[in-house]
Amino acid sequence: MSFTVQPCAKHLGAEISGVDLSRAIDTETFAKIDQTYAKYGVIFFRNQDFSPDQQISFSGRFGEVGSFPLAQYSLDGHPEILLVSNIQKDNVNIGLADAGQTWHTDMSWSALPPRGTALYAKEIPINNDDDVFGDTLFASASAAYEALPDALKNRIEGLKAIHSYHAKHAYRAKVSVSDREEMSQDQKDAHPNVVHPVVRTHPLTGRKCLYVVTGECVGIEGMPENEALALLDELATHTVKPEFQYRHKWQVGDFLMWDNCSVQHLAIRDYELPLRRLMHRTQFAGSRPY
Ligand code: SIN
Repeated sequence: MSFTVQPCAKHLGAEISGVDLSRAIDTETFAKIDQTYAKYGVIFFRNQDFSPDQQISFSGRFGEVGSFPLAQYSLDGHPEILLVSNIQKDNVNIGLADAGQTWHTDMSWSALPPRGTALYAKEIPINNDDDVFGDTLFASASAAYEALPDALKNRIEGLKAIHSYHAKHAYRAKVSVSDREEMSQDQKDAHPNVVHPVVRTHPLTGRKCLYVVTGECVGIEGMPENEALALLDELATHTVKPEFQYRHKWQVGDFLMWDNCSVQHLAIRDYELPLRRLMHRTQFAGSRPY
């Protein structure tokens, strides 16, 4: 099967055309898609029409697909598919309504963050003037690293940042449209802080990537807190500068995947009901950051 690749921003993002994900993808074609994914960090396929099982099976070719702990937000009969949505049924959210509303890379607060994440667009908020809302921004953490001055690259070489799920939870609740309650002590105990390199190496391309997240990194090992927080803020702010970004304007039928090593992302919450947004989200395993 042959396909075309259309890059869509200077540093990341590419549209793949000519692939129908509801049909079998042979090994050679898959290997080329996988290489394109590693190279561009974000890839997407327009006008797809495939079943939940097909989404799970395709996602699973990139890494083992996980189930989501928030069972009430998964697609009926498919614990591997998380509903990301503002839609409500009987005044109750059918899915996770506040996903991704601050810049982040998925689950960096865990010891083994997922390699990548995929969204399949089922409903997109569009008003009567055909304005589309709910874009997602992506930023290349590898281009951001490469643009650093050498002195700063040397300074951060070998440093390890502390990532905190509790800090992320509190930060999200503070700055996004969210009705999350404060975490209980049991929840906090279940998610201890983890440590990852400030500069990650992409396991397939070998490119170095900045791996620090605003609101989620709470320190750097062996560095005084004030100095660490200032450095983390400088690096995280640099990572998501406009020059490293791609903005995805969604269409129903888009299947889009991002790489959690080389890319950070942000969901733009600029819509409210009755405008509806519904994504089927899958996530697949990666390797320990190094
Ligand atoms: C996410 O961060 O998982 C969701 C992103 C989006 O809904 O655009």
